[in-house]
Amino acid sequence: MTRLLIRDLAQVVTHRGDGGPLRGRALREVEVVEHAYVLVDDDGRIASMGAMRDLSPSGCDVEEIDGAGLSAIPGLIDCHTHPAFAGDRVHEFALRAVGATYEELLAAGGGILSTTRATRAAGEQALREIVARHRDAMLAHGTTTFEGKSGYGLDRDTELAQLEAVAAAGGVPTWLGAHAVPPEHPDADAYVDWAIAEVLPAAAELAVAADVFVERGAFGIEPARRYLRACAAAGLALRLHGDQLSAMGAVPLALELGARSVDHLESTGPDGVAALGGSDVAAVLLPVAALYLDRPMPPGRALVDAGAIVALATDFNPGSAFCESLPVVATLACTQLGLSTEEVLAALTVNAAHVLGLVDRGRLEPGLRADIVLLDAPDWRHLAYHLAGDVVHTVVREGRVVVSRA
Ligand code: NIG
Ligand code: FE
Repeated sequence: MTRLLIRDLAQVVTHRGDGGPLRGRALREVEVVEHAYVLVDDDGRIASMGAMRDLSPSGCDVEEIDGAGLSAIPGLIDCHTHPAFAGDRVHEFALRAVGATYEELLAAGGGILSTTRATRAAGEQALREIVARHRDAMLAHGTTTFEGKSGYGLDRDTELAQLEAVAAAGGVPTWLGAHAVPPEHPDADAYVDWAIAEVLPAAAELAVAADVFVERGAFGIEPARRYLRACAAAGLALRLHGDQLSAMGAVPLALELGARSVDHLESTGPDGVAALGGSDVAAVLLPVAALYLDRPMPPGRALVDAGAIVALATDFNPGSAFCESLPVVATLACTQLGLSTEEVLAALTVNAAHVLGLVDRGRLEPGLRADIVLLDAPDWRHLAYHLAGDVVHTVVREGRVVVSRA
């Protein structure tokens, strides 16, 4: 592999730091270098970056990309997706468009359980192809690292096949073993007992984190606590779907257990905001899910102002957020959550990497992975400005061009 030089860029833009999460004012401290370059080493890491006038001539083979009129940002990181599903829920979408609610559909055996039936029937190979296809769609929108959850198997083999499919596609697997209670178990307690005994030992070998949907009609606080404690004891980081449709105590539980994140937070009030602000539990906000289900937006501005570690993600899934685009999330975060363009970039890069426990990416800095998005605009803020626009020009992952519109 030769070195790669991206030259004459209108801007190179990144947050700085030591790999730890950013909060408060640090979220806004973005570095913008005008008329700049990024040089990538032959090992797929960033060699150097800076102003064109400081670029020293290279003695070895270099492949060049003309960055004129483009701006470079770190590869985007989607820290919350559900890509391992078969079938679709277009029928439910149409029903919701004329008044059915997400909770009614789930209670009637649809929703997550309808996707579970299709996913169980799909088979391992099909699941791998499905996740790879969604990975490529995310990549085209600038996502160079994605997390992918299981949770549409809810039986041993399909849960493990989903985790394997995410890993095979290069994603970061999360075991969402407690997503819904499948019909073969009488209740949430019985299902959690079974999942801990039968699936957790193998899931812990494949996944880096565990997740639970704390909600009416899904898992209450007691089964969620038992499931998460067992997962922590097996070495998994903890994540929660919390306060999406109702505030049932997911935030205090996340703090009690030292979870990595609590995600959604559409129903979180001032107490939850203050608690997260004073904690190391990241708040992962998913504005597409709120938009798609016509729910209130999560309190993004208040969380940032309270000092919380805020990250943003798509929640890509067939029911509540059928959208692979982090640039769309960026627009919604600016227009609906009251975040600044700089805060949004930090939430999609540095803080999303932190949620996934990754320290080798999320910023443009010598030695880090060369995951770079070139935006088709001379000002990086077009990322959020151009609603659903074709803003991603080129994507470099580990030093290789994987998407190019040139
Ligand atoms: O994050 N809320 C629970 N899980 C997903 C939705 C999954 C589905 O509807 O299939 C979410 O919104
Ligand atoms: Fe989700």
